Amino acid sequence: MHEAEGLLGKTKSIRENPLFNDQKFKLGVFSANCSGGLIMSDAPTGFRVTWDQQLEIARTADRLGLEAMVPVGRWIGFGGNTNFNGVCFETYTWAAGLAQATENIGVFTTTHLPTVHPVVAAKMAATIDHISGGRFGMNLVMGWFTPEMELFGSEQLEHDRRYAFGQEWLDFANQLWNDPGTFDFSGEFFQAKGASSYPKPVQDPRPALINAGASEAGQEFSARNVDINLIALPTEEVPAYVKKIKNLANTKYERDIDVWTYCLVICRETEKEAKAAYQAIIDAGDWPGAQNIMDVLGVQSQSFGTQIKKFQERFIAGWGGPTLMGTPEQVTEQFAELSEAGMSGAIFGFHDYATELKDFGHEVLPLMRRHGLRH
Ligand SMILES: Cc1cc2nc3c(=O)[nH]c(=O)nc-3n(C[C@H](O)[C@H](O)[C@H](O)COP(=O)(O)O)c2cc1C
Repeated sequence: MHEAEGLLGKTKSIRENPLFNDQKFKLGVFSANCSGGLIMSDAPTGFRVTWDQQLEIARTADRLGLEAMVPVGRWIGFGGNTNFNGVCFETYTWAAGLAQATENIGVFTTTHLPTVHPVVAAKMAATIDHISGGRFGMNLVMGWFTPEMELFGSEQLEHDRRYAFGQEWLDFANQLWNDPGTFDFSGEFFQAKGASSYPKPVQDPRPALINAGASEAGQEFSARNVDINLIALPTEEVPAYVKKIKNLANTKYERDIDVWTYCLVICRETEKEAKAAYQAIIDAGDWPGAQNIMDVLGVQSQSFGTQIKKFQERFIAGWGGPTLMGTPEQVTEQFAELSEAGMSGAIFGFHDYATELKDFGHEVLPLMRRHGLRH
């Protein structure tokens, strides 16, 4: 083994990843790799999960100067009328393809840690980091959708244990990315003798990491390990949440973390048109599919009564997150509100990604610049 050759990598600081540029409010495209995206509905759309459209979306986002392409990790659909997310590109290979096809944007995997061994994942990550020239990132997910996780042949761990597993998984991966030699790893979930991984990633000390932990254990995992915590909250709750998780990262782990949200964008020339587009999505909504999600999440219609319909509606349009709706001015104002509340960025989806992202570039981005949210 020629050590010098094997160590190739670590040529850029992680701070050079597009995620950490100086835009005030960062932007990423979310869930374009999965059928439906963030919408569970039969409302007509030109969006299809074809590689041609993935390329078109990613190249548009790249040209517009957006920071990230973040996929959803999904192994089966949600049944119902549309089998929401049932057509879904695997996200390491997706990121590798998009890395080659783009110039500046951050490309992410969304990886269910229990489904991939750290030795395999660390090497795939390093490979994509080389393909992208240091633009790779990982959305680390523990796996909440039990039927999906059980496809992999083992029983779903209890919620907080999944984060304990995730911590050890990441400790192992971090060592593979950073240890200049060969090492033994001995943990509760992983044991390995003579482990090593070359080349190292381009980014030093590791690829960018994001995580959507919302529970106490999830927030702790985020604060301890990742660069960005993703969460959707009512705007009035954002300042306290951001303060709390930043404080946890600063004081307990002596590191920084930012908070981004996710949302659906329905932007049209007039408010009336935007509302009509939203209503068309709801009218053709996949209510049985939304109910399947409620069932897995343990949201019982008995205990929530009429609220269940509202919950389902939020999943049908926006996967439980907020919908930014209206004219370009109104959508810009809603981004500004998120920014003022303490969000450093947002990843978002559209009903028809390829077309609406281009419109977003023409109509919304100039207004965001005027607002000082972007330059
Ligand atoms: C923006 C965002 C993206 C997510 N992406 C995925 C995903 O692709 N696959 C998945 O199984 N879970 C995904 N999740 C679920 C989270 O990993 C997590 O389970 C959820 O936010 C609940 O947090 P908790 O684990 O702390 O309870 C996502 C959540 C958010 C907010």
